[in-house]
Amino acid sequence: MKVLVVDAGGRGNAIAHAFSRSNKVKEVFVAPGNAGSNFFDKCKQARMNGKFISSIRAIDEIVEFAKKENVDLVFIGPEEPLSLGIVDRLEEEEILAVGPKKDATILEASKCWANDFMAKIGVPIPKYKNFDDVNAAKEYVKSLGNGVVVKADGLAAGKGVYVCDTVDEALNAIDEIMVKKKFGDAGNRITIEERLYGIEVAFTAISDGKTVKPFGHAKDYKRAFDADDITALRDFYIGVTKKFYSIKDVEKMFREGKLLNPNTGGMGAVSPHPAVNDEIEEKIMKMVVEPIVKKFKEVEGREFKGVLYPVIMLVEEDGELIPKVLEINVRDCDPGAEAKLPRLKTDMLELSMAIVNGELDCIEIEFDNDWCVAVCAVSGALKGREGLKPGYPADHYTNQPIEGIEKAMEEAIIYANGISKPNGYQTTGGRVLTVVGKDLTLEKARMKAYNAIKKIKFPGMRYRKTIGLDVPD
Ligand code: AMP
Ligand code: GLY
Repeated sequence: MKVLVVDAGGRGNAIAHAFSRSNKVKEVFVAPGNAGSNFFDKCKQARMNGKFISSIRAIDEIVEFAKKENVDLVFIGPEEPLSLGIVDRLEEEEILAVGPKKDATILEASKCWANDFMAKIGVPIPKYKNFDDVNAAKEYVKSLGNGVVVKADGLAAGKGVYVCDTVDEALNAIDEIMVKKKFGDAGNRITIEERLYGIEVAFTAISDGKTVKPFGHAKDYKRAFDADDITALRDFYIGVTKKFYSIKDVEKMFREGKLLNPNTGGMGAVSPHPAVNDEIEEKIMKMVVEPIVKKFKEVEGREFKGVLYPVIMLVEEDGELIPKVLEINVRDCDPGAEAKLPRLKTDMLELSMAIVNGELDCIEIEFDNDWCVAVCAVSGALKGREGLKPGYPADHYTNQPIEGIEKAMEEAIIYANGISKPNGYQTTGGRVLTVVGKDLTLEKARMKAYNAIKKIKFPGMRYRKTIGLDVPD
């Protein structure tokens, strides 16, 4: 069979790699994909009339490609095409698709709606309140005091969440979202939540609309820098502010909480999540995932088909760990998927067919007992023609030549997040490559990932050195 994976980054290449391991799959296209989509047997970056697909939003082009190539099944990675209705379009054309329809993407596309829904059906979430009025929101923040989280309602490419230590920070977040409209209309409403403390889990499940099953989990490392990497933090802030800071200045400001270690889409991941045992997995399924999928249909009349990825905070209450939902995503995690999917034993095509045919109850989803450590190489601080740029997650240079990918592949799995290959390989984005070590012990998996990543070089390359280090083996 021929499969099309819709995604531009590392997650899509990990999904394509999983499909390629099925005997029943002849060819896997990735659209728009990137130069790393060609790293795996049977997998290639989609081309139509000699050109790559222009973007994950180019629904018409993607549907046309699927028809032209007689693709048997399409698997959609990111939320954007899903919320634009790509699954509805493909189904109109009678093409099988794994992913939620447009009306089901509200679970991710509106944080206010999702919080109201979960509150209504009794899924544990932080205390929260939604606002469309700036002053009312500010009064509420003042009444709560320190320790709140302010979130733009709509899709903001993972950047619309402000985890605030102080009331001032929260007031500032409200201004940025609602007054300065940093995320456009996505900030017409906000949800304000109590800040929770606990163990964060990237938990995923997969559903055919009737049955829902666990689909693996990962620990996601979201901060841009290792806590002790003051040099990298300094380079970043010099790049952002264009002012000089000494190491001592930066150390002091960081200690005093004046310099934040920025949040990113993810700098690495470990799968399985070391804190999630069978009991916790069952608790998350019973308390969170099953009610969401079931009540979505019963109460809201909407079906969820595809990967559901609730971000869970395991919070200790009366000596028990309670899974509380920080947000719901209607797609797999990135880079969690890169750490999780190499461990998938179940045939990805059989699983996908079971989802589109409503037969998920007949399939067993299995992962092997290995550990995977995924480390992202990103475009860091670099001085170039336009001066010093701070690097991911802020402004960064692209089109930098990359060396050593083939050497690194001898020891680890390489999923490309953002590369092209005009001649040699080049960087095209903030996240560039995700290097995955896989082995029976966490330490061996870590060694493989770090040995391999050391073989890769590009100007400004940066990666965290502590992925998986805080995990007891
Ligand atoms: P989200 O995009 O909603 O997952 O938020 C991004 C990150 O902000 C999460 O991964 C958490 O680390 C953090 N976060 C979100 N909501 C809360 C909360 N209520 N309490 C503590 N941390 C949160
Ligand atoms: N790594 C966070 C996400 O995929 O949303």
